[in-house]
Amino acid sequence: MDIKTLKIAVIGVGNLGNALVSGLIESGVPATNIYATRRNGDKLEEIKKLRVHAGTDNRFAVKQADVILLCVKPFNYQVVLDEIYDDIDPLRQLVVSVITGVSIETLAAKMPSGMAIIRAMPNTAADVKESLTCICHNGVEDYQVELTLKIFDALGTTIIIKEELMNSATVLGACGIAYVMRFIRAMVQGGIEIGFDAETAGNIVQHTVKGAATLLLERKTHPESEIDKVTTPKGCTIAGLNEMEHNGFSSALIKGLKASMTQIDH
Ligand SMILES: NC(=O)c1ccc[n+]([C@@H]2O[C@H](COP(=O)([O-])OP(=O)(O)OC[C@H]3O[C@@H](n4cnc5c(N)ncnc54)[C@H](OP(=O)(O)O)[C@@H]3O)[C@@H](O)[C@H]2O)c1
Repeated sequence: MDIKTLKIAVIGVGNLGNALVSGLIESGVPATNIYATRRNGDKLEEIKKLRVHAGTDNRFAVKQADVILLCVKPFNYQVVLDEIYDDIDPLRQLVVSVITGVSIETLAAKMPSGMAIIRAMPNTAADVKESLTCICHNGVEDYQVELTLKIFDALGTTIIIKEELMNSATVLGACGIAYVMRFIRAMVQGGIEIGFDAETAGNIVQHTVKGAATLLLERKTHPESEIDKVTTPKGCTIAGLNEMEHNGFSSALIKGLKASMTQIDH
């Protein structure tokens, strides 16, 4: 099935829902095939400019859809699922949940029996079609997996993982955007101290980060072998790197990831 003919309900167009809608439209899904909802109708003005169907009526959106994307916060999903229970049709629809920390089993218990459910963990780079999305399922039809892969491949890169790793995927891939942003900000602040204006420093850092990631993606090398290429004995790069490590650079990152994980798990 071509995703350009799919009708997609996006329930909860906040930060991530908005990014998914923008990415889908950029990928060629007609705006008129998208039904976006949130509770606060006053905040729908921006998304209405994209010409999607936007409103506060979840039941209407769900009735139109082939695929229902659940994009609400974990503390809001129960209300939504109670509301749309009678409108979900297990025979013709697929539910894809991006809700953090809510298992397929928990979601299934709130939906009509036999509902096909897939969990996805994208990140906000979906907005620019560069999301890394992890998806998992427990025995839906192959064509439903294919369909979900098509949706998220249109928004970047997709990999299939076991459900038990979904929380880890949240930390590494979704929270990861924030960690990298903070890294970039720190690099820019350092760049200003050594002489650049903020805009130039930002430009240099953003392209350097993109270049480093592209090197690894395309060459399939290990980060340390790329580091070896730029560290001259007694040179400035190794001096800077080691100073960062003495101050806990890698350790701070690993501890941060584990702290995020604790918050999801508790
Ligand atoms: N942000 C990320 O990078 C990211 C990445 C991966 C997964 N996630 C997961 O994706 C979900 C959404 O995250 P987010 O950052 O986009 O949160 P968000 O910005 O708070 O968006 C949640 C949206 O849900 C809407 N909503 C709440 N109750 C609703 C209801 N009963 N009916 C319709 N809409 C309702 C809210 O609308 P109102 O504000 O109008 O009430 C809001 O627009 C969360 O479960 C999060 O864990 C997020």
